Amino acid sequence: MPTVTYVLPDGSNQTITTASATSVMQAAVAHQVPGIIGECGGAATCGTCHVYLDRSTETFLPPGDDEEAMLEWTASPRADNSRLACQLRPSNDAAQLVVRVPAEQQ
Ligand code: FES
Repeated sequence: MPTVTYVLPDGSNQTITTASATSVMQAAVAHQVPGIIGECGGAATCGTCHVYLDRSTETFLPPGDDEEAMLEWTASPRADNSRLACQLRPSNDAAQLVVRVPAEQQ
């Protein structure tokens, strides 16, 4: 099963084993990872699941138009590795991801 490590703004981290095709946002909300809100439920319209994708053994498609547009409005600055966690769904059972949670989401 895929694992996702969330690195929090204070430097601590939380690693979650999740099911394939579960989004990085859904896994975070289900395990109460601080700083991942997911207000819109995964529709790419709130930006409260912004993460910096620091490492992944899974290759994701680049952001689609909706994600690109929303990433312009995130509370913390957009970076080259910014993604919406609701749009990241590891499909590989052996996938290992590391994402950094930004200091602000709203
Ligand atoms: S949950 Fe709203 S943009 Fe990802």
